[in-house]
Amino acid sequence: MANNDSAKMMDKIVSLAKRRGFVFQSSEIYGGLNGCWDYGPMGVEMLNNIKHEWWKSMTYRENIEGVDAAILMHPRVWEASGHVENFTDPMVDCKQCKARYRLDVLFDDLSLKKKKEILREMYPEQYAGQQKDEVIEEAFAKLIATDQQASALVPKIQCPNCGSKGSFTDARKFNLMFKTFVGPVEDVSAVVYLRPETAQGIFVEFLNVQTASRQKIPFGIAQIGKAFRNEINTKNFLFRTREFEQMEMEFFVKPGTDDQHFEYWRGERMQWYVDLGMKREKLQWHQHPKDKLAHYAKDAYDIEYLFPFGWGEIEGVHNRTDYDLSRHEQYSGKSMKYFDEETKEKYTPYVIETSSGASRSFMAFLIDAYHEEDAPTAEGTMETRTVLKLHPKLAPNKIAIFPLVNRDGMPELAKKIEAELRPHFRVFYDDSGAVGRRYRRQDEIGTPFCVTVDSQTLQDETVTVRDRDTMTQERVGASKLREYFAAKFI
Ligand code: GAP
Repeated sequence: MANNDSAKMMDKIVSLAKRRGFVFQSSEIYGGLNGCWDYGPMGVEMLNNIKHEWWKSMTYRENIEGVDAAILMHPRVWEASGHVENFTDPMVDCKQCKARYRLDVLFDDLSLKKKKEILREMYPEQYAGQQKDEVIEEAFAKLIATDQQASALVPKIQCPNCGSKGSFTDARKFNLMFKTFVGPVEDVSAVVYLRPETAQGIFVEFLNVQTASRQKIPFGIAQIGKAFRNEINTKNFLFRTREFEQMEMEFFVKPGTDDQHFEYWRGERMQWYVDLGMKREKLQWHQHPKDKLAHYAKDAYDIEYLFPFGWGEIEGVHNRTDYDLSRHEQYSGKSMKYFDEETKEKYTPYVIETSSGASRSFMAFLIDAYHEEDAPTAEGTMETRTVLKLHPKLAPNKIAIFPLVNRDGMPELAKKIEAELRPHFRVFYDDSGAVGRRYRRQDEIGTPFCVTVDSQTLQDETVTVRDRDTMTQERVGASKLREYFAAKFI
């Protein structure tokens, strides 16, 4: 998508999200808080649906248990996990205007012309003549591939904020964990961190869960919860935020069987998005190159979604080896080993992690569902309808109920249907405006079905059920609606 179109598309989605109550900027009346968002009435339903589907897909199995660990943990956890030392981004400050940038982000908006200029200055012979744009982009990407190489180019870059050149500090490490204090005294001994990932809450509870549930290896522990990262540059709506939610599952396996479990979970996780309606052609795998693997990983793949601004990670599937359990054993002095009753072996399990962002997946589902298409009006002319083709399981409202007109006993019948369906489905009653407008309002929030009570209902007790995606209508007996919809939402 061209840059302009991509920005327009994002604007449309952010605007719909606000207008229809999916997502609001946090603390908007005070000017907002960067990197934080609030989910409105539609958003919280959809987010809960995503989390519920994930929870079901993980814990409705015989070999996965759930936990809900505290956000604040003992500070030694983060020393053991390597986050105190390694969870850093290199950043530079502009000495002129004080703007702060993550090193790699500094090059994000650099023009092709400037990239050519830099390449020519550095390799005059190689880049003297005409070059294809892709060649320049690729060569430049290689040039800034490591932090060290990128740092060397910083003096050649203008500050994107104030335009000064040569005004940047050297790159420095910036830890992304938020710090706070426990108790009334704000000194070093009271420092704790808001967890930057939910995974560590699982690792430290590994043996408690195993003992309590009497699980045998291989088995997994799943958790959904908030995570916090003091991202230097938040961007792209919900993509990179400072507070977000993760859905993580750590699967504990016998060393030597890890590759086979890794492949299994890769398959499961990609299929989960597809089963919930995400277009397969908008999903791809990205394997982390060996030299870029996280300090704990033996192998790692990202599931990427094609956002309007390009491919972006929505989930990581990692082989974390025995790194985390071994480190917690070392730092806590407590054994984290598993004893196999059958073989009488004692070992530290390897861990296959599936780590999905609930907030990022939410955004990907929202974007994937967004469609603008031509549709006929009641008068027979054409108009553009905006429709969220969300999987029925993810849609915030499942059924809308309308009386065609507010007379002749139709509202009473529609209210009766509402009362019958409400205990079983999230329904919405709407009697205002022309019925065509009411359909459009529901299309925009992705309601899969609209039920209309009309004059025929008064004669034969059938209603029309309109399908959001095909816009076709069928007549269904009012007394059969509960069964009819139960089959649709399995
Ligand atoms: N436990 C491993 C872990 O946390 P990660 O790749 O750093 O791995 C996993 O994060 C997922 O969490 C990402 O794929 C993404 O969906 C989500 N995520 C990470 N940082 C985020 C942020 N700043 N804002 C929103 N989602 C984020």
